Amino acid sequence: MSLRIAAFDPADDTTCGEAAAIMRLASLAETPDMPALSPRRYVARFRNPQLGERRLGFLARLDGVAVGAGLLILPDEQNREAAMIELHVLPTHRRRGVGRALHDRLTGIIRAENRSTVLANTSESLPGGPARPGDGSAFAAALGYQRASTAHGQLLDLRDVPAERLLARVTPHTGGYSPVVWSGDVPEADVADIAYLNARLIEDAPTGDLEWEAEKPDPSVIRNYERTYRDKGSTLFHAAMRDDRTGRLVAWTMIEQLDDPSSWGWQQITLVDPAHRGHRLGLAVKLHNHLQVRARAPELHHVHTWNSDANHHMIAINAELGFRPSGATVDWQIHLR
Ligand SMILES: CC(C)(COP(=O)(O)OP(=O)(O)OC[C@H]1O[C@@H](n2cnc3c(N)ncnc32)[C@H](O)[C@@H]1OP(=O)(O)O)[C@@H](O)C(=O)NCCC(=O)NCCS
Repeated sequence: MSLRIAAFDPADDTTCGEAAAIMRLASLAETPDMPALSPRRYVARFRNPQLGERRLGFLARLDGVAVGAGLLILPDEQNREAAMIELHVLPTHRRRGVGRALHDRLTGIIRAENRSTVLANTSESLPGGPARPGDGSAFAAALGYQRASTAHGQLLDLRDVPAERLLARVTPHTGGYSPVVWSGDVPEADVADIAYLNARLIEDAPTGDLEWEAEKPDPSVIRNYERTYRDKGSTLFHAAMRDDRTGRLVAWTMIEQLDDPSSWGWQQITLVDPAHRGHRLGLAVKLHNHLQVRARAPELHHVHTWNSDANHHMIAINAELGFRPSGATVDWQIHLR
């Protein structure tokens, strides 16, 4: 048996396509309750670095057959002591040392760059949610990683949300704030406010023991996100609440509609500026976005979201909306010596 691991050029359609196909099949086995995503989304993981980071792709071939894929993410501006890894092995070729060999190759590069922390994430079942095999967690634990935080995945069918009724209940609390909705890029006049709210996420949303520095409150971060969402084929739906006194956006939420299946969307960030909490803006902004999605993308029903298990407030908002448990995403970290 010969096992060979080689870096590949993300611009090369053939090898990048092979790696993306492995990621897709491995993910389907790991989260059988989630839809199969388009190959384009997986290719984009290798091709589209965020601002100030490098992405390196690796293929593992067992007797010449591509069976494993690795992605190494190296932040070069903030979090320079850290690296993120994603490893995927075809379900038919597990427990033959492919994952460990990929891990050795990636951590070799991480050590050579004098980085000390490695982060990875895995999928698990949640009580009351669908069954997931949890191979990734068994692997991470076997290699000495520690659990840093757990995000609760939750799923909502937008057709079941009584958005108008709930909105009528929260609107008496939101006086002095006006809803704004849009699809696509953030308007230029509001991008500084959105960049500020985005940068607050790591500071404000509980993330357990994860050691991760916040992003810069810089509009270029938002513009780069928009580019990577476009590359994946996503459509973005935003809602925000404007403080009538200052004209600034102080609450923001976004749903990312997938290219395929377009009936699915990821509930991305929701954030209320700490100075404006206590006015039910978090629930209001989400409801305004649901109404926008219903009107503009009626084919989108399934909205999936993740919240740190320490984020009791957002979990309570989501329960009020009717989200039910799907599965957990566990963030793991290890300090290399
Ligand atoms: C995690 C993953 C990459 C492991 O790939 P793999 O090739 O099966 O891993 P290895 O054969 O190198 O396993 C190394 C060790 O991890 C542990 N391990 C791996 N899978 C395990 C499982 N399902 N149950 C218990 N232990 C497991 C074992 O200790 C194993 O050593 P052993 O086989 O000698 O006992 C693969 O299961 C996968 O693609 N999962 C989906 C993606 C994912 O969750 N990745 C997370 C890491 S970033």
